[in-house]
Amino acid sequence: MNILGIETSCDETAASVITDRKRVLSNIVLSQDEIHSPYGGIVPELASRNHVISINFILEESLERAGIKIKDIDLISVTQGPGLIGSLLVGLSFAKGLAYTLEKPLIPVDHLEAHIHSAFIENEDIPFPALVLLVSGGHTSLYLMRKKLDCKVLGKTRDDAAGEALDKIAKFLDIGYPGGPLIEKLSLGGNTQEFDFALPKMTDQSLDFSFSGFKTAALRHIKKNNLNKKSSRLKDFLASFEHSVVRALISRLKKAASKHFPESLILCGGVARNKRLREYFTELAEEKGLHSFIPSHEFCTDNAAMVAALALEKYNKGDKGELSLDLNAYARSPH
Ligand code: KG4
Ligand code: ZN
Repeated sequence: MNILGIETSCDETAASVITDRKRVLSNIVLSQDEIHSPYGGIVPELASRNHVISINFILEESLERAGIKIKDIDLISVTQGPGLIGSLLVGLSFAKGLAYTLEKPLIPVDHLEAHIHSAFIENEDIPFPALVLLVSGGHTSLYLMRKKLDCKVLGKTRDDAAGEALDKIAKFLDIGYPGGPLIEKLSLGGNTQEFDFALPKMTDQSLDFSFSGFKTAALRHIKKNNLNKKSSRLKDFLASFEHSVVRALISRLKKAASKHFPESLILCGGVARNKRLREYFTELAEEKGLHSFIPSHEFCTDNAAMVAALALEKYNKGDKGELSLDLNAYARSPH
């Protein structure tokens, strides 16, 4: 069986083919970074227009790379939400059209659940219960996973997502978009202790995150020290900022691990590409004696292999993907 995944929730046009043994035959991602970079963030209207332009040849490329024809697809899957509504509608309408004409089942999937499931593409047997730290540009959340497809939210960000905070400071300094990988590159070898960022104090016992305080502190440091993208202290500033964001993520995960006694820790989402985060995460798992799982880079940022892999899991659990033309996209997470 061949499963086609389609993902257009934000600014990546992606298509992937995987087999029912979860072998990834192709994983094509067309990034629109260059289109949005001059604006320092995503322009929704431009994102959806460019998905319309690209989706056909991205599908063709994914079939060619997989070495199959469209008639060899047995199951179609697509991201239904959350995300930019215009972008989501391009992928969803395209997938519905394909399913209708090819007379194949269609399984819509949740983008966040697909990110979580990305950890299972390369690891079938993750010991449960698992704590999942999902860190992307739109979301930062902690989940307790008792088994596959069974996730309970333990905490989420009360303001910005971690990736969003990195992107916003990069935009303010006119470094470029997306900010996360650029900050990672420019902060290499910088002193993480040079600039002070206090960890947010939650008065309740919650496992929520908050990054707006870091953002305010960052803007204060920039103003006070007259920092700009050419400053000699930029490297130290970015290293201190990135370090603090990562420390905040790991401290919440550590607290959750002490409370919920998991067997495994899972890190996923676009920010999971970050070297410092991967290192601190692995150190925490070692310190606690837990198994740890982080997807390869290509499965961290938005991609369609995670969509197809989640759909396959649902299919195997009995979801046969009835095609309903009324199926609609959703911008916000219902969870
Ligand atoms: O998962 P993703 O592709 O899209 C969303 O669902 O949001 O994540 C994109 C986010 C952006 O904020 C980007 O700056 C961040 O992931 N990101 C990184 C790195 N690569 C991508 N952040 C830090 N370090 C990286 N290497
Ligand atoms: Zn995403």
